[in-house]
This record gives sequence, C-alpha cells and structure tokens, in this order.
Amino acid sequence: MNASAKDLASLLPPGFTLGVATSAFQIEGALDEDGRGPSGWDVFAAKPGSIVEGQSPAVSCDHYHRMPADVALMKELGIDSYRFSLSWPRIQPAGSGPVNRAGLDFYDRLIDLLLASGISPMATLYHWDTPLPLEQAGGWMNRDTAYRLGEFAAIAAAAFGDRVSRWVTVNEPATVTTNGYVLGMHAPGEALMLKALPSVHHQLLGHGLALQALRAANVRGEIGLTNVYSPMVPATANPLDKVSAGLMDVAQNRLYADPVLLGKYPDIIRAATFFSSSFSPSDEDMELISQPLDFYGLNYYMPTRVGAGPGEGAVPPGMAEAMGDDLSGTPGAPLHIESFPDTETTAYGWPVKPEYMSVALAEMAERYPDLPPVYITEGGASFEDVVVQGSGADRRMVPDERRLRYLSDHIGTAVEATQPGGAAESVDLRGYYVWSLMDNFEWSAGYKQPFGLVHVDFDTQVRTPKASYYWLQEVIAARSAVAGSAAGQKNGDDVGQSRTAPPSELP
Ligand code: BGC
Repeated sequence: MNASAKDLASLLPPGFTLGVATSAFQIEGALDEDGRGPSGWDVFAAKPGSIVEGQSPAVSCDHYHRMPADVALMKELGIDSYRFSLSWPRIQPAGSGPVNRAGLDFYDRLIDLLLASGISPMATLYHWDTPLPLEQAGGWMNRDTAYRLGEFAAIAAAAFGDRVSRWVTVNEPATVTTNGYVLGMHAPGEALMLKALPSVHHQLLGHGLALQALRAANVRGEIGLTNVYSPMVPATANPLDKVSAGLMDVAQNRLYADPVLLGKYPDIIRAATFFSSSFSPSDEDMELISQPLDFYGLNYYMPTRVGAGPGEGAVPPGMAEAMGDDLSGTPGAPLHIESFPDTETTAYGWPVKPEYMSVALAEMAERYPDLPPVYITEGGASFEDVVVQGSGADRRMVPDERRLRYLSDHIGTAVEATQPGGAAESVDLRGYYVWSLMDNFEWSAGYKQPFGLVHVDFDTQVRTPKASYYWLQEVIAARSAVAGSAAGQKNGDDVGQSRTAPPSELP
C-alpha cells in the first residue's frame, strides 16, 4: 500500500465523490462519423498555426470506437462518478433543428454502461464544441447562441434526464472568452480584447436558459455550472501590482461567478460599460443567470501571480510556447503574469501550488455566503511521461510520481480546508474529479500536454495506466476499508440505473 494513498483515504469524509473527467472533443475523434456536424473547433484546429505541430483532433483517443474499453478502465479504477461532455454537434449537427439519432445512441450506450458499472454519470452540456453554423453566425458574440443552448439542453434532458446524476450546463466560460475571443488562442480565434464582453454574458445566459430547460424537463439529477478559479497574487507589495491582481481577479474569477452567485456583475464591469450600449444586461437576464443551483462546479489548477505593465506576457510563462503562440510581453498591456519564485511547474509552465487550493475555496466562501455544495469538477497536471518496460512480459509502466503527488496534495488540501477548523470550513465540498481519465487532445497544445491517469499511445491507441492510476485505485480501495461496514459501497452517489431497470430515487 502506498503510504500517501492510505493517508488520503483516511482523510476523505464519508460520501466524498472521487471521479475522473474528460470532454467529447478532446477524446472522441470520429469527427465525420454517423452524422456528426462540424464544430467551430474542427475548423479552428485545421487552420495552419492553430495547434502545436499541426496536430489534428480527428482521431484523438478514438473513444467513439473504444468507449466500452474506456469504461472498463474506469470500472477497474473504482471511481464513483465520470464527468464527460455531450457533443452538441454529434447530437444536433447544425446547433438548431434536427436531432441525430446516432449521436443520442452513443451517449445512451455510454450512460447505460456507466450505470451498469456502478459509476454515476455527470454530463456537461457545453464543453466548447460549438456547432459550426452557430459559430459562423457569431458564436458567443451572438445572443442567439444562448437560446440554442437552452434548446439543446431540452433535447439532452428528454434523452438522458432519467439517468444522469449531475448536469453541468457550461464549462469554464472564462476560458472560452479569454482564449477564444480576447486572445485568439482557441476557437473561434478572435482577438477582440475588451470588445469580447458580450461573449461572457451570452454564455452565462446560455447557462441560465439550459438550467431552466433542465428544470422544466424535471430531470432527476442535480444541476450546476463549472467555473475555473485562480486566486490572484500580486507580484509584489507595490500598489500597482495589487491593483493589477485585483483587475485580473475581476476579469477571470468574479466576472463569471458574481452574476451566477450574486445576481450582478462586479461594480467595476458595470462602471466600465456604463457608456457602452452593447452591454446592458436586463433584470430578466440576471434572474435567469442567478437561478438557484444544486451544486457549483469549480475547476482549480493553479494560482496566478500578477504584476503591473506589459512584463512577460498574458499567460503563465512557458505556456504560450506550449500552445504554439507568441503572446509574450504584449507591448502596451496594462498587466502581465509572472512565475512564482522557487516553484515547481508542470509541463505547461503552470505553478504547482496546492496551498492555493485552500485559498480558492476560502475566497469562494467569503465572497459567496450562499455558495451551494461544491464539486471540484477538474484538477490535474500535465507532465512529460515516459513509458518504461518493467519486469515481466508486456508489463509497461508510466512512473508519473509528480502527477500522483499533485493529485494527492490537492485533494488532501481541499478536504482539509473544508473540515471544521479549516480555512474554508463553511464550504460543503462533495467531491473531486481528476482531469483527466486519459491523455487527450489538449486544445491548442495538441497531444503535447498529457494530463491522463492513463497514458495513450496516439499511434497505436494502446492505453497504459500510469502510477497515478494505480495510486488512485489504492485510495479508493483503502477508503472502502476505512469505511468498514460500508466497504464497497459507492460514495456520494445516487448511482442511477440503466433504462432496463426502474429508476431509483435520488437522495
Ligand atoms: C478545461 C479542459 C482542459 C484542462 C487542462 C480546463 O480548462 O476544461 O478542457 O483540458 O483545463 O487545460
């Protein structure tokens, strides 16, 4: 038994959900199969210079064809829950109008197999693969896209509402706006800078309309959205650095969380847009956006160290290169991101700072007194992995101790912070989903940033569980042992049942 696995297992409160996460575009491949329509990401990825080394998402993990084997890997791992996304263009190829039966069938099979494997499904409606016709009509700059997402939610609710345990409406609107519409590093590749603000509001409105549609359909599962959260740390005590960190906090955190949890945009945003007729959200919009949630999904990867002036660049040092972009030292930029001194970084250049996991939760608790129960819906790290041939025939191993330590430290910190006496004790933390089940298409960084618990050889599609996979398996096994009589019982989950059986009650 790995000592850290046992220690972590003993920390986990009863009912704490351990899961893994993926998204459709990053793992499925089969972009032109069985009636799937193109997405904005298909087109963006095909543009020369968009993806590191011109890598293609066309096959990726080939999960569309290998889904049963991938679910078997999850069953073997022993997780409570799997967070995946429904590919909008696979289910509704044009983003409006007719539904593609073959697309629904794929997720029907996935959900039934998960349930038969004792794994509760968490389905994300929007994880960035906007159907192309909607992208071409302006994507999230166009208010109409929000209504289309509401319709898509109704389609998904009718098809899967009896079996999905948790719904995430929208994943990381901050990343879509910042990378896709402000800086142009992600689809649709627009560099609109401050003019991108409508893309924020329309995604949040899309969340509200999707939530409304799921509620109207009376889905059995809980409903939330997922925001990424990065504590902002001033580079020095200089007041200009503090102001810069405050601005970044508004732009990356509060802009997306305040409307949902407080029903209003941060004052500074309202002040800055006072003279702009293009952004004047109505009360009705704000009501839709701030409807009560069953849970709040929080993705935490790292804190951000911010300084005033152009400095090193707009993304963590090293990350622009990892994504094949040159965003370093943008001349005239009012602020920049700096490295943390003496700090380990991931292959992406992201600082490894588990203590800020606790800061993130504490800040959320302080800012949002009515914060619903929280799931960490993503957390993980990319490190360069090496496959080694171990003893015994065909025994391949991936010794990814740094990822294992990252996960152990972050899950442990989150759990400790939310226990009585912890820095975020008022937060009702329900679970942690590791990003990601397997190495996959990491957006503009292609296959160069592996986050998986399972290594994927993209030439042969051979899957090799890494040391971190076996470690998590031990945590789960040790947790059951700690739970004594509850041994073997799935944690925190109303693991539903497949269509063939009568539905069980949700808690
Ligand atoms: C996204 C994932 C992504 C991960 C690592 C999150 O921003 O939701 O799709 O792969 O971070 O970059």
